[in-house]
Amino acid sequence: MKIAILGAGAMGSAIAYGLLESGVAPGMLSMANPHHDKLKAFEELGVTVTTDNKEACQSADIVIIAVKPWVLPDVIKEIKDTLHYNYQAVSVVAAGVSGEDLKGWFDYNGYCPTISLSMPNTAVKCRESMTFVVPVTGNERNPDIELYGRLGEVKVIEERLLPAATSLASCGIAYALRYIRAASEGGVQLGFRASEAQSIVAQTVKGAAMLLANGEHAEAEIDKVTTPGGLTIRGLNAMEKAGFTQAVIKGLIPD
Ligand SMILES: NC(=O)c1ccc[n+]([C@@H]2O[C@H](COP(=O)([O-])OP(=O)(O)OC[C@H]3O[C@@H](n4cnc5c(N)ncnc54)[C@H](OP(=O)(O)O)[C@@H]3O)[C@@H](O)[C@H]2O)c1
Repeated sequence: MKIAILGAGAMGSAIAYGLLESGVAPGMLSMANPHHDKLKAFEELGVTVTTDNKEACQSADIVIIAVKPWVLPDVIKEIKDTLHYNYQAVSVVAAGVSGEDLKGWFDYNGYCPTISLSMPNTAVKCRESMTFVVPVTGNERNPDIELYGRLGEVKVIEERLLPAATSLASCGIAYALRYIRAASEGGVQLGFRASEAQSIVAQTVKGAAMLLANGEHAEAEIDKVTTPGGLTIRGLNAMEKAGFTQAVIKGLIPD
């Protein structure tokens, strides 16, 4: 599968690094960005780079568009004449854009390519993304599922769930990191150096996530470490008294 990525910003670059890490040959990847400086590192890795979106799309089986939402209509207008709708699929990574918008922008005399709206998070870079795919058009097997499957977990969802998915998993990376920062600051107060505290907390969070990935139940795992009258239950209750659960839910569903 030949892949083109339009936009070498935070998401486009993270996807590219993840794909290379997953074993995609640099020659199978092309990237476009208006400013060449963001492409240099990929050029050095052997990726085909260009400042011309149309050139990047040539011979790609799937075109990933990872630009800011307000730039998207212009990028689509620019490439739609050169896209082969019958075999080139498009994967749009943009928050706040609807399937109907995309169908309208891609429409060419009533035809559209296979389009999906995809919502990865920045952990695509280390192939641990939680990616959501909304198939917008096309009945055949969606190529996004295979592509993002190389970069972590993939869930195909209905479009109505996309805002919730974005909050939980894309913004969620920031929320999880904020927990890690808070716990690290506590670790410094307890006597560890900041860098040590952060790596201890990160490994602890990774361990907790791995337990869940192995099918364990979160509350059952918590029960295992809460000795009656012990330190953990005192800590959990103090966190709840300070509004931990409510603060997290409020963050996911702000007023
Ligand atoms: N960051 C996340 O966690 C996340 C998660 C899910 C989805 N998203 C979505 O991903 C999209 C990209 O976000 P981002 O965080 O990667 O933004 P970003 O870092 O600003 O990257 C956007 C890139 O698009 C390039 N660009 C601008 N105009 C272009 C054009 N006409 N053709 C090709 N490339 C162009 C920019 O180039 P220059 O800077 O050189 O002008 C920049 O490198 C957004 O729509 C966002 O909603 C982001």
